[in-house]
Amino acid sequence: MLTELVYCSVATRPMSVEDLDELLEKCRAKNARLNVTGILLHSSRTREFMQLLEGEQEHIDELMQTIQMDERHTSVDVMYQHEIKSRSFEAWSMAFRPMDDVAPELLKGYTTFNANSLPPALLDGRTSRARSIMTTLSKDL
Ligand SMILES: Cc1cc2nc3c(=O)[nH]c(=O)nc-3n(C[C@H](O)[C@H](O)[C@H](O)COP(=O)(O)O)c2cc1C
Repeated sequence: MLTELVYCSVATRPMSVEDLDELLEKCRAKNARLNVTGILLHSSRTREFMQLLEGEQEHIDELMQTIQMDERHTSVDVMYQHEIKSRSFEAWSMAFRPMDDVAPELLKGYTTFNANSLPPALLDGRTSRARSIMTTLSKDL
């Protein structure tokens, strides 16, 4: 079964261009092996990451466990995971966009506040917001 997962997190220290290049190189090699595709967003201003991963559920679950333990980031918060019929990032073992370049209108209403402290109404909003950001970006690569 194909699944799509989106999470957000915060880098534990500032990520240099070299750090990001190294991370992406590793991600792309391993994702290509696992037939995992997706996109990574990072803001050097707020240190936030947001990542969409798509692939066979067993691969995504396993990869997510590894990612969750990675000490380069913290506060890993899975916003949603659901079954998909087709991929949005078919051609990308891991696309990358600096989050600071993403149009502010698109990010408006998106929040990475700790999920436990958010009322359900805002959480719902956040999930659909995250989905629409990712869908828009997939058409823009
Ligand atoms: C924000 C972030 C996103 C990551 N995304 C991926 C990814 O898409 N694919 C991947 O293989 N590793 C990703 N990693 C790296 C993994 O945590 C891990 O270092 C890598 O999979 C190598 O694991 P291994 O040596 O145990 O196989 C990411 C790490 C961070 C901090």
